[in-house]
Amino acid sequence: MLDALKPQVQDKILILMQQYKDDPRKAKIDLGVGVYKDATGLTPVMRAVKAAEKRLWEIETTKTYTGLAGDPAFNAAMVRLILGRDVPAAAVATPGGTGAIRQGFELVRMAAPDATVWVSSPTWPNHTSILSYLGIKTAEYRYFDASTGGLDVDGLLADLGRVAPGDVVLLHGCCHNPTGANPDAGLWSQMADVLAARGAIPFVDLAYQGFGDGLEADAEATRMLAARFAEVLIAASCSKNFGIYRERTGVLIALGGDRAVTQGNLAWLNRQNYSFPPDHGARLVTMILDDAALRADWMAELEEVRQNMLTLRQGLADSLRRATNSDRFDFVAHHRGMFSRLGLSEAQVATLRDDHGIYMVGDSRINLAGLNAGTLPVLAAAIAQVI
Ligand code: LMR
Repeated sequence: MLDALKPQVQDKILILMQQYKDDPRKAKIDLGVGVYKDATGLTPVMRAVKAAEKRLWEIETTKTYTGLAGDPAFNAAMVRLILGRDVPAAAVATPGGTGAIRQGFELVRMAAPDATVWVSSPTWPNHTSILSYLGIKTAEYRYFDASTGGLDVDGLLADLGRVAPGDVVLLHGCCHNPTGANPDAGLWSQMADVLAARGAIPFVDLAYQGFGDGLEADAEATRMLAARFAEVLIAASCSKNFGIYRERTGVLIALGGDRAVTQGNLAWLNRQNYSFPPDHGARLVTMILDDAALRADWMAELEEVRQNMLTLRQGLADSLRRATNSDRFDFVAHHRGMFSRLGLSEAQVATLRDDHGIYMVGDSRINLAGLNAGTLPVLAAAIAQVI
């Protein structure tokens, strides 16, 4: 039986992680996978997470199962974090943001097997790969303008205008991955107008809340969509903003419809795919969000992380301006979140890797958090050399 298996095409982000690991050079720079790193290259356990873990170790008396949908207190805390208040919603805990995306797509397939799911061009490779694995019809809407490093606003609105009634449109709630380019509030509102007129259903992927313009600002677009549409799906990840990547902590929220029936379907989907969702990370998140002191400390540290990435952005834009003697890369300062797509060719990306030990995804997406004050000018000089 196993001989019938064919090798799978590996995700390009994961291939890059391995290549970086295997590179013996000391002076290599990792701008690949979307994991936050401080100036020393460490992905720290956040202070509030450590404190919650200590407290949990003291008070936890059982490891018996939670509910199929996870702990209702976690789901409620995440609804409040994302939507800003208690909102009646169906929700399930999932293994990370990818788990939420996967369960969301499966829910779409169960409810509307003929619907097309629209994704931005480009989008996170896992989106398209899961959609294709599930056999869901997919279409792309134009999003990024490689010539400016900004959005292709006309193409975006034109393509959203072609969405069929009942189709699902996947939107990055903030910090677009891989480009770093995001709609402003005015464009979000225009996009919502078009989608509402088409009878589309928004599905928001919110993996970086707190990494862009702030915890509240990063949720604004999702809140606006939740207020305007009868039905909205939201897949959220706690991997980045709580720094608990390996704990696999996420949530899928469904607004609208018959809440009890949707909730039952979500719990059923959990049962089919992995039964009970992981609890450790979700419990830490709930403890932090529901405790004033832990929450304040978490928010303060998250804000430090965000400011650090903003400083690196501005620093990179300035270094590139000096190194290339042009404003070609000024867009880096306007992007938000962990990533920016630099607009380099595959060959230039390969030269950066082979000749300079600088690792970025083949589409020239960089993780800003992989930089520090010392490596900023190194990267800028290397880019100036290859372009
Ligand atoms: C990324 O895009 O690098 C992250 O979301 C990590 C991943 O799983 O791809």
